[in-house]
Amino acid sequence: GAAVEVDISSLKPGEKLTVEWRGKPVWIVRRTPEQLAALPKNDTQLADPDSKRTAYPTPAYAKNEHRSIKPEYFVGVGICSHLGCSPSDKFQAGPQPSLPDDWNGGFLCPCHGSTFDLAGRVFKNKPAPDNLEVPPHMYLSDTKLLIG
Ligand code: FES
Repeated sequence: GAAVEVDISSLKPGEKLTVEWRGKPVWIVRRTPEQLAALPKNDTQLADPDSKRTAYPTPAYAKNEHRSIKPEYFVGVGICSHLGCSPSDKFQAGPQPSLPDDWNGGFLCPCHGSTFDLAGRVFKNKPAPDNLEVPPHMYLSDTKLLIG
């Protein structure tokens, strides 16, 4: 499929934009400084904190704590690595139904309860076998992203 150009100039901290790429939803999340600072706190609870698994290989430029080129922006395919449902936004930190008390923000799959942090990293002991896929992408400018 064709690459998709996305204008991210109006995306505010804490917001998410969804675009379609190859028939899949691709999320662009602009993380707040607080959300970024919370990512390392999840590491010990994650199945693959360093994105070493290869079922959905993480591009080299996203093999880092924030799983992205620019720390602020997470670009990921919004499809659960278990059976393909689309996880819901659970950006708010703190206790919420079906989430641990020490929740730092992320995504919850409504189908079988897999949870992902705000870098799309899956938590341990969940049905989803892998982190959310990071699609090939690059920045054309500060406000333009090319996916694919
Ligand atoms: Fe997401 Fe099963 S499809 S947990």
